Amino acid sequence: MNLATYDAHLLTALLPPNRRRFLSRYVRIFTGTACNQRCVSCPFPADVDRSFRSAAEIQAALQAAKEKGATGVVFSGGEPTIHPELPELVQEARQLGLAVCLATNGVLLAERNVLESLYKAGVGRIQVHLFSGDETLHQSLAGGQSRLEASLSAIQRLVEDGVPVLVVVPLLAENLTSLPALMDTLHGLGVEHVHLTLPDQVRQPEMRASLADVRTTIDSLMNAGRVARISFDRIPLCLTATHLSKHAFLRHRDPLRGQVDENGLSWVCRDCDGASQCDAPLARGEDEQEIRTLSPFLSPRSNSFNYIPNDFVADVADLADCPIAAGSMEAPAFDRQREFLMHTRDRLLTVATDSGDFGGAELASVRDELGQVYLDTSDKLLLDDFDQDLQPLRPATHCTTCPTLGTCPGAFELRPLEIGFSASEARVDGILGQLTGRVLDVGVGEPVSLARIFDSAKDEGLSELPFKYIGIEPDKSRIDELSSRHPWLHLLCAGAEDPDLCAKVGGDTEPFDHILLLRSYNHVRDLRVAFQQLFSMLKPGGTMLLVENTVFGVVRGRKKLWELEQMEQQGGAPFEHYRNHLSHEALEVLAPFGLEVLEHMAVGSTTANQWILWLKKPTI
Ligand SMILES: C[S@@+](CC[C@H](N)C(=O)[O-])C[C@H]1O[C@@H](n2cnc3c(N)ncnc32)[C@H](O)[C@@H]1O
Ligand code: SF4
Ligand code: SF4
Repeated sequence: MNLATYDAHLLTALLPPNRRRFLSRYVRIFTGTACNQRCVSCPFPADVDRSFRSAAEIQAALQAAKEKGATGVVFSGGEPTIHPELPELVQEARQLGLAVCLATNGVLLAERNVLESLYKAGVGRIQVHLFSGDETLHQSLAGGQSRLEASLSAIQRLVEDGVPVLVVVPLLAENLTSLPALMDTLHGLGVEHVHLTLPDQVRQPEMRASLADVRTTIDSLMNAGRVARISFDRIPLCLTATHLSKHAFLRHRDPLRGQVDENGLSWVCRDCDGASQCDAPLARGEDEQEIRTLSPFLSPRSNSFNYIPNDFVADVADLADCPIAAGSMEAPAFDRQREFLMHTRDRLLTVATDSGDFGGAELASVRDELGQVYLDTSDKLLLDDFDQDLQPLRPATHCTTCPTLGTCPGAFELRPLEIGFSASEARVDGILGQLTGRVLDVGVGEPVSLARIFDSAKDEGLSELPFKYIGIEPDKSRIDELSSRHPWLHLLCAGAEDPDLCAKVGGDTEPFDHILLLRSYNHVRDLRVAFQQLFSMLKPGGTMLLVENTVFGVVRGRKKLWELEQMEQQGGAPFEHYRNHLSHEALEVLAPFGLEVLEHMAVGSTTANQWILWLKKPTI
């Protein structure tokens, strides 16, 4: 199955929340670090003080869980069954109306009197953690006073007593091959549900199972169908995608987990459409190569959105006479993320976007932080001259000092840019004009910037180019079309990630002086692979020029928007960006290559939506 064919919305459809959460609205109640085992996947450091949490603290936690609307609690430690006051605490939870689950290694539950007292107190369900069905292996991974035989006999008893029992198995390098046998054993005991998880901590890095092995193991266990239900959590979604409907989160365990730092994620996960559904996205770099080979959920996305005029507010020739500021009318109430006030042509009106391609916060940030909203004043459906066709909308000068600002969101007005589209292009021209030697152009497409150089060499051909040019472009039709206009150009049909790219362009024998990615960076599916290849083909002291456009919003009339939608329905331009990186994000992607920044023109409210990065490969 090609996972890339999954759309994000399809993922959502496959993972309805009630299927994803094993125990919804259960809160984990920590009973202390004290434990009768010393698991290699224990979340606590080896030298942690092993103690019980006081009954008073646990009672307070139960009360808080109840007040926060929990329907149940999961007692877990350490090992909750060795807490001397566990039966009383279970009883207390039940009296608060909370259902009770225990997360245990099961060793003590083999003792009939322990189990009886917990039943009596009102325990409803039990999760038993096991590493293997092999006594020696289990002992080596669980350590301490672990006893596989006792845990298994507790499981058997629970099943016989009709208690819902879930066996949780942490996946480690050492236990993967023993899991089919464990499944057989559990099936024999009447267990119906086994839950696989990847521990957050392991005692030594080599104990961590490789993602490729985890994937193979999950596939084989699922296909063998030994126990009725296998679910999993903390495993990258793309590893389990073939079994999406079985994915489950053990939400109540969250308090033990570190929060995922969005900025710390690997690039493959940041580009992934499944990221919001994935509870184990990869931290930067870690295992990234393995995940890439699985083709994670990646689909092209839009890099612009439309606003349409919504409500007329007032006739206002000059904002100095604004009726809202004068108190003669109320500031209009609207969704501040998706709408804004616009002052043009002597009128104050609201404009709104219903874009489904971007979330509300993203839309607001493009407008307020990036400052990228424009008014389309052209009569063209497809814009070809942004300086002419788009007028920048920026916060109105008068509003910035208005005392009503805050209560009123403030209006946007047409304001000239310090660095507009042509000024930005002029800067690109300035850099291109300095290039000599061998130049590789990645993603030739319609070569907007290079056209000026190509056109001046039109009649004379290659000999007139200031550099030795090779262009690559994966779209064959574009190459054919361009070749007919400039037959002397050296063009090849290839993408930046193609494994044979170096050989194709001769970069392994004759490296390049300059590599250009002119508005093609966000089109490249696999940035890491692409840049590894491109970097290896760049001469020491050579440069890489990246020019890219950020997301922007355009205010358009209803009629024009309708016509554009008609065009899209008839197969208009498809989305082509895999991401919408800003220049600082591109710098993070490129950080491992240690390039020196020669020029960095970022996007801001006084610039058009084009950023420029000109980078140099160190000479040593
Ligand atoms: C927006 S166009 C840029 C055209 C031109 N370079 C310019 O200056 O505007 C992006 C081009 O990148 C090409 N492209 C897409 N994926 C690519 C890849 N993986 N490697 C290289 N080029 C790619 C597209 O086919 C398209 O022609
Ligand atoms: S976020 Fe990362 S780990 Fe999760 S499904 Fe996407 S690519 Fe895989
Ligand atoms: S912030 Fe602008 S639109 Fe709002 S009341 Fe003041 S002048 Fe009027």
